[in-house]
Amino acid sequence: MKLSGILSILLQAAAIRRSRLCVVKTYGDGITDDSDNILSAFHGCNNGGHVLFPRGKVYVIGTAMDWTFLKHIDIDIQGRIRFTNDTAYWQAHSFRFIFQNVTSFFKLGGEDVWIYGGGTLDGNGQVWYDTYAANAYTLRPVLVGIDGLKDSVLSDLVLRHSPQYYHFVANASNIVFNNISIAGDSTSKNTAKNTDGWDTYRSRDVTIMNSVVNNADDCISFKPNSTDILVQSLFCAGSHGISVGSLGQYVGEFDIVESIMVSNVSMHNASDGARIKVWPNTASAMSSDLQGGGGSGSVRNITYEDMLIDNVDYAIEITQCYGQRNLALCQQYPSSLTIENIVFRRFKGRTSAKYRPLIAAFACSSAKVCSNIHATDINVVSPGGTRQAYCLNQQETNLDADCTNNYKGFN
Ligand SMILES: *[C@@H]1O[C@H](CO)[C@@H](O)[C@H](O)[C@H]1NC(C)=O
Ligand SMILES: *[C@@H]1O[C@H](CO)[C@@H](O)[C@H](O)[C@H]1NC(C)=O
Ligand SMILES: *[C@@H]1O[C@H](CO)[C@@H](O)[C@H](O)[C@H]1NC(C)=O
Ligand SMILES: *[C@@H]1O[C@H](CO)[C@@H](O)[C@H](O)[C@H]1NC(C)=O
Ligand SMILES: *[C@@H]1O[C@H](CO)[C@@H](O)[C@H](O)[C@H]1NC(C)=O
Ligand SMILES: *[C@@H]1O[C@H](CO)[C@@H](O)[C@H](O)[C@H]1NC(C)=O
Ligand SMILES: *[C@@H]1O[C@H](CO)[C@@H](O)[C@H](O)[C@H]1NC(C)=O
Ligand SMILES: *[C@@H]1O[C@H](CO)[C@@H](O)[C@H](O)[C@H]1NC(C)=O
Repeated sequence: MKLSGILSILLQAAAIRRSRLCVVKTYGDGITDDSDNILSAFHGCNNGGHVLFPRGKVYVIGTAMDWTFLKHIDIDIQGRIRFTNDTAYWQAHSFRFIFQNVTSFFKLGGEDVWIYGGGTLDGNGQVWYDTYAANAYTLRPVLVGIDGLKDSVLSDLVLRHSPQYYHFVANASNIVFNNISIAGDSTSKNTAKNTDGWDTYRSRDVTIMNSVVNNADDCISFKPNSTDILVQSLFCAGSHGISVGSLGQYVGEFDIVESIMVSNVSMHNASDGARIKVWPNTASAMSSDLQGGGGSGSVRNITYEDMLIDNVDYAIEITQCYGQRNLALCQQYPSSLTIENIVFRRFKGRTSAKYRPLIAAFACSSAKVCSNIHATDINVVSPGGTRQAYCLNQQETNLDADCTNNYKGFN
């Protein structure tokens, strides 16, 4: 039986097991903050109850809420929850995660929390896309902020217009995301930036499956200390791919990304399919609010398999020179973040014309810090029919592509 089938049976069983019902009240005018109604339902049904946001109801959240007290609870969201557009309030009160200025509307934690129901969380992102365009230091909240959640499930949810990442998953273990729909375009000339589908951080045993992501940054990104993660059956469009990293951004930190399996992903209109991005061992700058390099760590045992590539700039991109356009400098200061035991297999499809004739880039800062990288069954062509790859410090016989030193840049 498929994992998703088992999960839907478990969800039904959980709903029956937790029969104590708390229906969340709403002021219902689409403006008044329902946070007190939500908190009283969560407290009333914590430890064995079932919270219901009924279908057809609209809830407004205008207060940052700490939901890390949740335990043994079902949160059945059938209605629609919208966050207010008060950017001044949220910047002053949203939860701060210690990583990369990440903040969130709410902080979800605890254990044995089952959130499902087919309803919608709407981040009201437009005002944030416009505010961020005017000031790159605007602290845009993540829609779903997780810190310290274990043994939990989020399933059958629609997430729209997040101001920034859709999920930031920190300090989590044994959690499953299933059947999550992500989308939200900007309606102004200011694009919806940094709208990663999921970022995992200090987390292990996380499954992300059967989901659709339409966004404009990483579909999924594994940030420092993400281990034992399964990504299965995803449709990603418009994104920057499924990315390990970026890692090694901060001097003095040791980043680990290990034992990741990515299987059955279709990637459309994206910059990358499979990507591993590591900062070099020298200070580098991507933009005014994104700079780094010099950190150490290890990327190990990563598999990407059965990936469909459709109009993607690079089917595969590994770089240990992230943020550093000067490749001589990157090789002069090899990364102290090693990459080993990496497998890409059974890829098919077509890249975009952006890096033609290349379909991939495999760039290590030195052969000493990169080993055992394999690409097999790579049935991907660029629009001209070629299947060249830029290879730097590679064991080329392990790569099923035509290695060249024709450098065309990185994303
Ligand atoms: C913010 O939301 C309020 C209430 O829905 C609305 O009246 C106002 O026009 C919105 N402001 C912006 C800048 O979108
Ligand atoms: C994760 O847990 C650590 C250790 O308890 C804590 O210091 C940190 O604030 C938590 N949150 C994040 C985002 O790392
Ligand atoms: C975090 O915010 C500070 C101050 O606004 C800024 O200097 C820094 O570059 C930001 N860092 C990141 C990673 O965005
Ligand atoms: C996925 O979730 C949507 C609601 O967001 C629901 O309508 C649909 O039935 C779910 N799919 C499956 C296979 O359960
Ligand atoms: C990641 O794990 C390593 C090894 O335990 C530790 O040294 C490092 O501080 C951790 N990094 C973060 C960001 O938690
Ligand atoms: C692969 O993922 C697609 C969704 O993108 C899904 O429809 C299909 O059933 C999955 N195939 C397998 C073998 O799981
Ligand atoms: C490699 O990662 C897979 C998950 O993708 C895991 O099942 C396996 O145990 C890991 N192997 C090692 C040697 O860590
Ligand atoms: C990819 O982009 C093309 C051209 O804009 C568009 O027609 C197509 O629908 C997009 N594909 C997906 C899966 O979004």
